[in-house]
Parts: sequence; structure tokens; C-alpha cells
Amino acid sequence: MALILGLESSCDETAASLVTSDRQILAHQLAGQEAAHAPFGGVVPEIAARAHVEMLAPLVAAALAEAGVKLADVDAIAATAGPGLIGGVMVGLVTGKALAMAAGKPLIAVNHLEGHALSPRLADPDLQFPYLLLLVSGGHCQLLSVEGVGRYRRLATTIDDAAGEAFDKTAKLLGLGYPGGPNVEAAAREGDPKAVPLPRPLLNSPEPHFSFAGLKSAVLRARDSGRYRDADIAASFQQAVVDCLVDRTKRALGSIAERPSALVVAGGVAANTAIRNALQGVAAAHDLPFFAPPLWLCTDNAAMIAWAGAERLAAGLTDPLDVPARARWPLDPTAEKARGAGVKA
Ligand code: KG4
Ligand code: ZN
Repeated sequence: MALILGLESSCDETAASLVTSDRQILAHQLAGQEAAHAPFGGVVPEIAARAHVEMLAPLVAAALAEAGVKLADVDAIAATAGPGLIGGVMVGLVTGKALAMAAGKPLIAVNHLEGHALSPRLADPDLQFPYLLLLVSGGHCQLLSVEGVGRYRRLATTIDDAAGEAFDKTAKLLGLGYPGGPNVEAAAREGDPKAVPLPRPLLNSPEPHFSFAGLKSAVLRARDSGRYRDADIAASFQQAVVDCLVDRTKRALGSIAERPSALVVAGGVAANTAIRNALQGVAAAHDLPFFAPPLWLCTDNAAMIAWAGAERLAAGLTDPLDVPARARWPLDPTAEKARGAGVKA
């Protein structure tokens, strides 16, 4: 059994966690920065990087104390090395390198997206490769065939905004504050999902790509019309996102040659109950098992980074101490750019 210390600092959560290769989560420490970014309505990279500097070392100490272990007991140190806000990624990776050097233990540079992609396997030992993964977060919206550790085939991506970004922008338009996803979900519970006619971008298009920019503009027009309650806009927006995610996932399931072992959803937006329930329905219709991590494991955390480290260590994948931090780092480097305006991923 191996014990892995994981560090996460790629966006606005600073986190340290201790996880074993047999899936025990011995420590889970996390400090959000919501209060620091709230006045700006979004994450300010410079504020985030400075907060990571202040928080990471105390969180590592707290994680070791929570688990009742010493740094010398750790078998490897896994740190997010990208993609993300480069200042924050550098803070976490440099801290990981320093700890690895001091303890004389291997360093594992983890792709944050691989952390999300493998997180359902930390939650459930029954989940086997290959699986079809809908990875929905603040920065990404992708369908991936997860074929093994370090082996990802991207089937689809967004041609403009990520799903979480659409939730955050809708929250901002409705004055629901930051971070938007949970607030929009709460507002949607009080609203009618059929009240506001909103578009479903790319619905039925042959390739399973995503688009959310037009939906955001339609939310803006609905709000400016003054004809609708905010709760109805939130509910109708969430339903439009659900419909798009369901349609695109079905399209991907229909297009892959090898039948996956399961349908899986991960990433911050996977914390949304309406989205989880809808995807569970897709899995049932295709007679596939459905996996979604518990809510705390969907949004950014270090347990998923430690777990990805455990999976990589078991596969013999460690990194040299000069491994670079990367602002951009696709999981599938062979994937072609999605066709469409404003391509980001
Ligand atoms: O994975 P994550 O914590 O960070 C990134 O790697 O991006 O995802 C954060 C995103 C944010 O856009 C947030 O609004 C969204 O996940 N999110 C949600 C919910 N909880 C978090 N979106 C919809 N419903 C939720 N309950
Ligand atoms: Zn994330």
C-alpha cells in the first residue's frame, strides 16, 4: 500500500490531502478563496496566487496532523502541474518539488483534468477502464474515452464557453454572486424550467461538441426583457444545459466503436443534481452503469490529485524535479481543434 500527499492550487481552492492506494482518504484539507474574489465577481489570478502562497504550507501541516503521519511516511508527492492559472500552479508545483526533495520521495506532476477524470475511481473500486467521461468544470466541457491511466481520447469539447463558465456568467447576470453554479441550482429549484424559451446550441449536430455562448446571450436578453422571474430564468437555463449535455452524451455514445464499461460524470458541474439525474437516465437507457463522485469530490480538491498520483505511481509514472508548470495541458494532445468560432480548448 502506498501513501500519497496531494496538492491542488490551479484555480481558487488551495488543498492538501493524504490518500492511500487502497482508497482511504486519511486527510482532506481545503481552503476556498471565495471571500477574496467575491467583490470582483470572478477569480483574480494575482489574488489567487498570493492566497495559495499563504495557505498551502499550513494546509500540508494540517493534513499530516489529521492523518497522524509524518512527511517521511509518505511514499510520493503529487502536485497539480497544470492546466490552470499559472501563478497558482507554480506555487503548488514548487511546494511539491520542495517537499519531494526534502523527503527524498518521488514527485508526480498531475494534470488537473486527470485528477477529475480518475476521481470516480477513488470513490468506487468497481469502475473499470474504458469508460465514457463527461468532464464538466469551470474551464472545461469535454467528452473523453478514458482508456487507462494517462490514456485519454477526446471525443468532443466546447467551441466557446465551458458549462461551469455558463453557470457562473448566468449567476452574475442574475445577481446571484460568485461562485455561480450552486447559486443558480438553488434559484432553479424555485423556478419553472419551461417558463423562458432558451436555445439549445448544437442540439442534434453530428459531432458531439458543445457550445454555451449563445445560451448566455439569450439569458441576458431574457433578463433585459423584464418579462421573467429570475428563478424562472435560472430554471430554464439549467434545463437548457441539461438538454445539451444529454443530447451530446447520447451522440458520443452512439459514435464510439468500443462499448464503454460505464457512463461517468466528473468536475465541478457534476455536483449539480439535475445534471447527475439526467445523465443517470442516459446511462439507464443505454443499459450502462452510471458513476458520479460524491459532491465534495466533484469540485476542486486535493484528494483527486493524490489519487491520480497513486494511479500514476502504480503505473511507474513519476517526474523529474525540473518538470514545468503548464497553463495549458490537454489530456489528449492528439485531439484536433473543434471547428467553430471562439475555440478555446
Ligand atoms: O472543477 P471545478 O471546481 O474547477 C475547475 O476546474 O474549473 O469547477 C468549478 C465550476 C464552477 O464554474 C462552478 O460554478 C461549477 O463548477 N459548479 C456548479 C455546481 N457546483 C459547482 N455548476 C452547477 N451546479 C452546481 N451545483
Ligand atoms: Zn477542476
